[in-house]
Amino acid sequence: MTSVSEIFETMEYGPAPESSAPARDWIARHGGEFSHFVGGRWTRAGGGALLDVMNPATGQPLARVAQGTQADVDTAVAAARAALPAWQGLPGHARARYLYALARAVQKHSRLLAVLESLDNGKPIRETRDLDIPLVARHFYHHAGWAQLLETEFPGYAPVGVVGQIIPWNFPLLMLAWKVAPALAAGNTVVLKPAEFTPLTALAFAEMAHDAGLPAGVLNIVTGDGETGKLVVAHPDVDKIAFTGSTEVGRSIREATAGSGKKLSLELGGKSPFLVFEDADLDSVVEGVVDAIWFNQGQVCCAGSRLLVQEGTADRLVEKLRARMEKLRVGSPLDKAVDMGAIVAPVQLERIRGLVERGVAEGATVWQPSWACPTEGCFYPPTLFTDVSPAATVAQVEIFGPVLVTMTFRTPAEAVQLANNTPYGLAASVWTENINLALDVAPKLKAGVVWINSTNLFDAAAGFGGYRESGFGREGGREGMWEYLTRDEGRAARGEGNGTSTAGNGSRGAPPEHHDGAESAEARDHSDAARSGSARENGSDSDSSPLAARRSPFVPPLDRTPKLFIGGKQARPDSGYSRQVRAAGGGLLGEVGEGNRKDVRNAVEAAHSAAGWARATAHARAQILYYIAENLSARGDEFARRIDAMTGVGIHRAAREVDAAISRLFTYGAWADKYDGAVHDVPIRGVALAMHEPVGVVGMACPDTYPLLGLVSLVAPAIAMGNAVVAIPSEPHPLAATDFYGVLETSDVPAGVVNVVTGAKDALAKVLAEHEDVDAVWYVGTHDGATAVERASASNMKRTWATWEERDWLDPRQAEGREFLREATHVKNVWIPYGE
Ligand code: NAI
Repeated sequence: MTSVSEIFETMEYGPAPESSAPARDWIARHGGEFSHFVGGRWTRAGGGALLDVMNPATGQPLARVAQGTQADVDTAVAAARAALPAWQGLPGHARARYLYALARAVQKHSRLLAVLESLDNGKPIRETRDLDIPLVARHFYHHAGWAQLLETEFPGYAPVGVVGQIIPWNFPLLMLAWKVAPALAAGNTVVLKPAEFTPLTALAFAEMAHDAGLPAGVLNIVTGDGETGKLVVAHPDVDKIAFTGSTEVGRSIREATAGSGKKLSLELGGKSPFLVFEDADLDSVVEGVVDAIWFNQGQVCCAGSRLLVQEGTADRLVEKLRARMEKLRVGSPLDKAVDMGAIVAPVQLERIRGLVERGVAEGATVWQPSWACPTEGCFYPPTLFTDVSPAATVAQVEIFGPVLVTMTFRTPAEAVQLANNTPYGLAASVWTENINLALDVAPKLKAGVVWINSTNLFDAAAGFGGYRESGFGREGGREGMWEYLTRDEGRAARGEGNGTSTAGNGSRGAPPEHHDGAESAEARDHSDAARSGSARENGSDSDSSPLAARRSPFVPPLDRTPKLFIGGKQARPDSGYSRQVRAAGGGLLGEVGEGNRKDVRNAVEAAHSAAGWARATAHARAQILYYIAENLSARGDEFARRIDAMTGVGIHRAAREVDAAISRLFTYGAWADKYDGAVHDVPIRGVALAMHEPVGVVGMACPDTYPLLGLVSLVAPAIAMGNAVVAIPSEPHPLAATDFYGVLETSDVPAGVVNVVTGAKDALAKVLAEHEDVDAVWYVGTHDGATAVERASASNMKRTWATWEERDWLDPRQAEGREFLREATHVKNVWIPYGE
């Protein structure tokens, strides 16, 4: 007699095909040929070519779409611009209703969208039906909520404007949702270019959005390949670019937008580690691996493509994996019983084949299941590499296919080292039954998302995104909303918002402006409140104070030449040159070191050696910030005289700058243990912890005006959050910074946490931006300088915050707070499911 288990084992799957008819009908209704969807209608400028859209599972054509030309992109951007005032002028509640309508539209047409996506991309209908499309709807619902709450939750912020969005082919509609939902919720209008392989669901969605009543021009779709993408990126009337795709193209977009003032978010590639410790539940691990690397044929930016296994467990796991791979089913994407569908296009299939051949040639062992893939269409079997060296091509390069490489480690420390051994920093997965170990390892992994005993979990409420060569910015959650908002300059200028009055003049050589008269009453109160224990306290608030009486420039002895400050020590500049510092009246005030490339390198190395600072408790960091403030206060008069001597602003205003710097240090002492992360409410049994992490080593070129306050305004938030910094102080007035390191020396700041390199600001800033071991560069200065920094940063895709905009450094509402703290941190989302 046959047992139930025998029947179970021998049962064959029958085909369970989903009909493609409704999707094909939709294509046919458009005559098999699509123009762009712009300003609420189908439109195309003459002369553009047509691109074939193929079904990768059959190699047969599905439709043709237009290749967007300059005229098409111009029309789309103009439509978005025209629609912007009315859209951003709507109350949040009205936009919330539109987003809600979009979510409903996706649900109402969910099967059409799922089938169309499978036809176009080749991914299994099971995934499009159960994952992609429900997540698309979820995204619009979630962001309907942010539209509703915008005015109260993001006060003082405004939409960025017209947003250009460029998305890849691996999750065509989902990537659209990740980009369009937050953009529209924040009040932006959009020009989106889908990938050339998979444009159909974007077009279908635009049509549905139009039918759902979305005002014309709010969402515009321009189809085409990378050339069309370039036109969107280069368009002068686009205010922000959001891109998901390859690191190579991301880098070119960083370069192309440098100095344009366009806000930028990049979600790029990855080579994400999947760590398995010896106490992990191996059966769960096997299913996790299936999800990590064979979901969507491995064409997932955060695919767990590197399986790192603790040594004693590796053989058993590989054996189990092979058994599981033998049972995976590859076939028609419309068959509801297949695990893997088709690779998106022949070119991608060739890329996968080529990389696998390379892996074999480099000596790794390849294993594939015994069964054969369909021979027509773009199919590739699940593939496992063992005996892989960490430096091998297949261990380093993003394959973007169903190819897993395994390596082993002995200790948790080695696991972390191996996990971080790529230029990427997108995602990671940690498998162990020991929660202590998991939560110890998670913060050490260079990844924007960490899944504990799980993988590839996504939700609109949790931010997604990476750092290093995986790009910057987050999509989803509150953190994702910031990418589509900007400080409300307009309101500030009109005196309506939180920013006030005139800002400092950033142009080099111009007289520094301490806008006493224009200062707000609050700022004055704030500044006055910070005064403590100095001679100024006894004087009146006018220039008749005792210090004001000694207004004549203070000239220090020339033999006191300040040095650079590197690794907690005063260091002579490598160049052997000094630069003269002039007093406001033109006389020689002193000299500082002429820092060069080598000094910057030494400073960066010193900053890295101060990594322990990131692990210090927030309480400890706060104590040190207060201590710096205390020691600065004790030398307040000296600093005021120095500032006055350099800038000629008068002792009273100089004293006010010192007071503001002391207050600012207090602000970040206060913030150090209050800039909390969040626990995101994601729809799993478990939590997603959104943790704020320091960015790492931050290079900063400080404002030329406010020689002390400008420096403190940048350094203090960075170190409060656990970063180490290399600061280039004001170029014309560097002596306040060199005096300041004396304060640091007496304030228990660990060596290497703050490094000061004086010299030619723009040249040194560029060196920082080019440096591979610098994680972010902040630059305040000229447009040319900012452009150079942004362009050079593409070398390792470091974050930049480069500005030539005016800002009143005395006004705490413009010059301190959350904006600075956001730049000083990134968010790591750690997903922790619980239960048995
Ligand atoms: P890609 O980065 O070239 O394409 C992504 C999008 O960017 C598409 O819409 C494309 O038309 C557009 N694009 C291409 N060049 C552009 C340019 N210079 N300016 C503006 N837009 C441009 O990715 P591709 O060629 O399709 O795939 C190549 C490799 O990239 C894959 O094998 C994979 O390793 C990686 N990739 C990573 C993705 C991710 O989600 N991280 C997604 C897609 C690809």
